[in-house]
Formats: sequence, structure tokens, C-alpha cells
Amino acid sequence: MQYNEINFNNKNILITGAAGFIGSNLCFYFQENYPDSNIIALDCFRNGETFSNGNLKSFGHFKNLLGFKGQVISGNINDKTLIKELEENYTFDYIFHQAAISDTTVQEQDLMIQTNVNAYEDLLKIAIKHKANMIYASSAATYGNSDRFEVGFEDPNNAYGFSKVMMDNITYKYLKKDIGISIVGLKYFNVYGPREFYKNKTASMVIQFGHQILKGLTPKLFEGSDKILRDFIYIDDIVQANIKATNPKKSGVYNVGTGKARSFEDIVDILQKELKIDNGKEYIPNPYLGSYQFFTEANIDTTKENLDYKPNFDLEDGIKVYVPEIRRLFEEEVK
Ligand SMILES: NC(=O)c1ccc[n+]([C@@H]2O[C@H](COP(=O)([O-])OP(=O)(O)OC[C@H]3O[C@@H](n4cnc5c(N)ncnc54)[C@H](O)[C@@H]3O)[C@@H](O)[C@H]2O)c1
Repeated sequence: MQYNEINFNNKNILITGAAGFIGSNLCFYFQENYPDSNIIALDCFRNGETFSNGNLKSFGHFKNLLGFKGQVISGNINDKTLIKELEENYTFDYIFHQAAISDTTVQEQDLMIQTNVNAYEDLLKIAIKHKANMIYASSAATYGNSDRFEVGFEDPNNAYGFSKVMMDNITYKYLKKDIGISIVGLKYFNVYGPREFYKNKTASMVIQFGHQILKGLTPKLFEGSDKILRDFIYIDDIVQANIKATNPKKSGVYNVGTGKARSFEDIVDILQKELKIDNGKEYIPNPYLGSYQFFTEANIDTTKENLDYKPNFDLEDGIKVYVPEIRRLFEEEVK
């Protein structure tokens, strides 16, 4: 599936966070659709180290890149020597910057800001020097306590959301200058789909509920789950937005969701239908009451207008195409 007129064959494309969920999907998108594109897949990969919340410091996993034929670099974007090498030894045409501390519950603010904010600016300087269009991952977490999911109404409530707002601010600062490249920040909402499995507990509830159901367990939902709504977006639509962001009508920051909020209860219902298993549902008190987000829904008007983005998958479509992979992972990795 080609999403725009650009021929990426023979282009030099840097993908950071390439062993992670979204980055690896981008690698395979190019490999499959533009086999002569030159993909440089950069990730620091996992090494077993954990943050104080007990989760891995980085989720990059070689299995996300099994079958990938491009160049793989294991490196840390906080390493200035690596940044210098990328600047001097390569000439990129496009940079897709997905590397980040993607875990919203991480408390180490120092490393969060360094990795998500400062390293982004270093990569942006390379993009400007190479005349490479920059596409980077922002997040719906920038909205935090806001009830308006529209660029300009951000109100982050954790260090992660703050770091993504700071990335967007850097973007606006550079866009005021005559830099000769486009920069597009994409505020992904709740993404699900193949290659998210290695995010462990931070993977979407789609795969987590899917595996619970396959184990024969009754999915546990918070009380009132039919009224806890999120904008769940399938990975192929995220790839679509990234590709379309390579030649935007206008640089800037855009929401990427379906534009339609759905409930966690819907996820369980659709999964049980597609898996042809009915384990019922159990309701438990919501321990996060008070600080919990009950509703997110992307306003995608400007994304449609300036990126020509149009979501192709509603929740039913996305889960349906994902279910065989959820089953495969269960057989090969969980059981
Ligand atoms: N998945 C979602 O629902 C979602 C939603 C909003 C925003 N995002 C953003 O999208 C991007 C991709 O997210 P993802 O879901 O693929 O997460 P992910 O954790 O699977 O991917 C991020 C990758 O970055 C790598 N990385 C982390 N620190 C690094 C460093 N210092 N140097 C080099 N590599 C490093 C990790 O190893 C990992 O492979 C992230 O920027 C994330 O914040 C994701």
C-alpha cells in the first residue's frame, strides 16, 4: 500500500526507535513497499535494566526486526558521539524519530527529558543540516487533564506528557525560522497492533485482554468501563500518517487517532467475538479514581486537511485483522 506519490526507493531513511513497536512497523513498511530504500534502523535495544517502576528502560527487541534487511545500529540517542557520527557519516533524506522513553509511568524525570526532549533537538539539527524532512512522535499524553483534544489545548499531567509538549515547543521554535525542511509532530492516541507485544505491561489493552481471554481468564474491567472511552488507533493508520507526513501541506503538530472514542468494554466484547471465546466479564473498583482519564478522542480535522490523513480501521476492523497475530504470540511466546 503506497500512501502518497513519493518514491522512497534509493532514499536514505533514518528510523529511530526501530526495534520498538511503531519504528519496526515503519521499517517493514519501507522494506515491503520500497525495496530499494536505504533504511537505517537505530535503537538502543533492551538490556535488562529497569526503572524504579520496575519496567524495562528500553523495550527494543530484535524479534521486532526479524526479516529486516537494512542496516541496524545499536546506539543511544543520548550519546553525543553517535549523534556526531550520524551527522557526519550519513546523508539522510527523511528522519522518522520514534525513539523515546515511551512508558508514561516513568518517574526518572532527568532521563525522560534528556532522551525525549534534548536528543530530539540534536536529531532535528541533523535533519536541518542534511535537508531531511523530520517526522517525530508526539503523544496524546500531552492533553493530560485537558478535555479538549485539539492542538493548543495541551495540559500534561506526567513527565512523559510534559516531555512531548517540550518536543512540540522545539518544533514551533524551529518552524519560525527558514530551515528548508518540513517538520511534522504526530500526537498518537492509543495505538495497538502487531509488534507491540515486547512492550510488556505497557502494550495496549487489546493484546493484554486478548491473551487473558486465550488463557481462559475472565477479563477484569474497571467498574463503569462502558463509560471509560479512548481513541484506539490501529498501527497501519499510524504508518499511514507517518508516510503522509513526509510531504505535508503545512508543517506542524497533528493528532493521529480515529476521531471516535470507544470503551474498554468494547475491546473485550470484540475480542471475545473474534476469538469465539466467551469468558464473561468481571468488574473491579477503579483504583485510580480521581486521577483517571475517562475520555480521549482525537480531533483530526487539521490532520485530514494538511496531511490528507484518513483512518482506515475502526476498532472492529483493527481487532479483526490483529487476532491471528494475537493467537500466534500466545502460542509461541505466552503459553
Ligand atoms: N504506542 C503508543 O500508543 C504511543 C502513543 C503515543 C505516542 N507514542 C510515541 O511513539 C513512539 C514509539 O512508541 P512505541 O509504542 O513504538 O514504543 P516502544 O517503546 O516500543 O519504542 C520506542 C523505542 O525507542 C527505543 N529507545 C528508547 N530510548 C532510547 C535511546 N535513548 N536511544 C535509542 N533508542 C531508544 C526503545 O528501545 C524502543 O525500541 C515513542 O516516541 C512514543 O512515545 C506511542
